[in-house]
Amino acid sequence: MRILTGIQPSGKLHWGNYFGAMKSMFDLSEKGEIFMFIANYHAMTTVRDGAALRDATREVALDYLACGLDPEKAVIYRQSDVPEVQELAWYLSCLTPMGLLERCHSYKDKIAHGLEATHGLFAYPALMAADILIMNADLVPVGKDQKQHLEVTRDLAGKFNNAYGEIFTLPEPYIPNTVATIPGTDGQKMSKSYHNTIGLFDVSVKKKVMGIVTDSTPMEEPKEPEGNSIYELYKLFATPEEVAEMARAFRAGGYGYGHAKKALLAAYHRLFDPFKERRDALEKDPDALEDILKEGARKARLASGPIMEKVRLAVGL
Ligand code: ADP
Ligand code: TRP
Repeated sequence: MRILTGIQPSGKLHWGNYFGAMKSMFDLSEKGEIFMFIANYHAMTTVRDGAALRDATREVALDYLACGLDPEKAVIYRQSDVPEVQELAWYLSCLTPMGLLERCHSYKDKIAHGLEATHGLFAYPALMAADILIMNADLVPVGKDQKQHLEVTRDLAGKFNNAYGEIFTLPEPYIPNTVATIPGTDGQKMSKSYHNTIGLFDVSVKKKVMGIVTDSTPMEEPKEPEGNSIYELYKLFATPEEVAEMARAFRAGGYGYGHAKKALLAAYHRLFDPFKERRDALEKDPDALEDILKEGARKARLASGPIMEKVRLAVGL
């Protein structure tokens, strides 16, 4: 089974991304072959600074490799190193009804949030379909917000197969509903759009953890941990025994939010300090990183090449 996912390099990755997307993808690696790419073409819908895009692309690669993506077992590549996706996106575009794209919530949401209504933003789902279909992916782990784009992908694969013969696999979305929405420092969903994130390798993790908004129940009083952001975040990092111990301490009273924040910070460091070490080593060796990405692209093109040959022949080129 081939499992493929992409992530846009459009901001620093945060705890929500790690527990909501990266970790569940790593967990899937026993089930099949993982293809993970950095969607730098997609990010051009919002990033208009070449240097910033190049840096962000590198940062995402470093984050994934630091947090456990093993390039010997998984294929990691930059979308732009497989430029044939643009070619396939065009063939798919010629079969894409305008109405299908007009119905996409993500486009409408982005416009409503003030993004310019460009052709790229509008046509984005056709490019995403190309990313998936060009690799004949079976399973695509994504967040809930991407479910509709997977429906578009399946729809376009079906239209293509009807017109030109059975070439594409219809991919299944994988949306783990076991992953809770991870709260940010203000208690809302952690999201870069809400400016409430804690970055994976943020130099200000301590300041951000200490600044998590809490109610003003005095330290001595018993507190209900469920629903409390610090406790919810602690659950992500700590063992079940540690979590039970924190719950007990909150309910007993005499345990303040400050204590819980310190425990959370320590649990974060326990998990992330080894990742940080690996990241620092890789960051110091840009050639090694480039080699990993080039090798990933080579493997990705090995997979996409035969599919594109069939596609070109089928469409009459
Ligand atoms: P953001 O909301 O910061 O823009 P993205 O939409 O780029 O994040 O997130 C990429 C993936 O990370 C999502 O598809 C989702 O699976 C996961 N993710 C992001 N934030 C959270 C969160 N707060 N809780 C759970 N998962 C999240
Ligand atoms: N659209 C996805 C997002 O914003 C990123 C993405 C691009 C993607 N192409 C993909 C995800 C292909 C999965 C498969 O999160």
